[in-house]
Amino acid sequence: MTTLDTIRMGIIGCGGNGRGHLHCYVNDYPGVVEIVGLADPSKAAREQAWEMTGKRPGVKVFASHETLLKRTRPDAVLISTPHVFHTQQILDSLAAGCHVLAEKPMVCSAQDAKAVIAATKKADKILAVGYSRRTMGPYLYTKRVIESGEIGDVVFVSCWQSQNWWASQKGTWRQKLALSCGGQLNDSGSHLVDIILWMTGLEPETAFAFQDNCGTEVDILTAASVRAKSVGAQGGALMNFSVVAKSVNFVEDITIWGSKGTIAIRQDGEVWRWESDQKQWKVPKRQLPKSRRPDDNFLAVLQGKEREIAAPVECGLAVMRLSEAVWKSAKSGKPEKVR
Ligand SMILES: NC(=O)c1ccc[n+]([C@@H]2O[C@H](COP(=O)([O-])OP(=O)(O)OC[C@H]3O[C@@H](n4cnc5c(N)ncnc54)[C@H](O)[C@@H]3O)[C@@H](O)[C@H]2O)c1
Repeated sequence: MTTLDTIRMGIIGCGGNGRGHLHCYVNDYPGVVEIVGLADPSKAAREQAWEMTGKRPGVKVFASHETLLKRTRPDAVLISTPHVFHTQQILDSLAAGCHVLAEKPMVCSAQDAKAVIAATKKADKILAVGYSRRTMGPYLYTKRVIESGEIGDVVFVSCWQSQNWWASQKGTWRQKLALSCGGQLNDSGSHLVDIILWMTGLEPETAFAFQDNCGTEVDILTAASVRAKSVGAQGGALMNFSVVAKSVNFVEDITIWGSKGTIAIRQDGEVWRWESDQKQWKVPKRQLPKSRRPDDNFLAVLQGKEREIAAPVECGLAVMRLSEAVWKSAKSGKPEKVR
């Protein structure tokens, strides 16, 4: 891959999250990122984004991503749109010769993930997914501890996440199945699924789940139990995922039990460790790696300053494979294979 000193960038989807990324490029990467185009069918959203660029005449504004790609020929694009559009927008951007930072979930099915993996290889471009936990200190630390063997073989994972999503997202595209392709499991839950699989390295084999849509088109509550394949000498691991979108508060909590120790990430990124009932400690913040954003990693790789993409294209497939098994099991009432 040819490295780039400056990056001509297009933004596809100028909503709340797209503008968050834009804020990062405009404020933290002047002289490195040049915003060349903004695409959004909503005039209000694209104008708001254009204002953030200082209304520069060089920034072209479009209603569709196809026109943005054709008219501005960017080096890279950020895709931050309702989930159903991701696959086509990624494929079109790769075909137009762009590197891509795609928001989560990368795509809406395992089949689409395979198509995107093949297209990324064919185009010989970088594709990064916006799984922001992968560049954050508590998760990087936990992955390193697990990989070092300090807690032994992972035998059990319990994680939960709660938000007021059922009430706060009423009437938006997020609760319309045709646009979101799934509920909270596919939204913030997608982060939880990805980070557990990434930190533990476990390969899910079977899922058994209950879900409740709470009167909406999409999953609001998910209780999923998962059996993972043996990845080491021992006999595999069990995992519980709780995704709660009908909550008055935001809480996220992960506990990972190993044969030699336990590690937990509590609310606000506190990391706790146990070696026995007598030996437990909170990991001092200074021992955690520095947190960054997916954008920092993506831009550093394009500039040749880093080699590894934190959340590469393959993670989009791993997340969809497990999510599909969970949705299927909730419908069938039976355990379902992760395919
Ligand atoms: N990584 C994170 O922590 C994080 C946080 C928030 C959102 N997200 C993700 O970002 C994406 C967008 O979420 P959001 O919160 O910005 O939603 P949003 O509703 O605020 O914005 C979505 C924008 O996409 C636009 N849009 C709709 N169809 C489009 C199309 N065909 N082409 C271009 N733009 C189109 C809408 O007009 C809107 O402006 C989703 O994938 C979401 O899951 C990720």
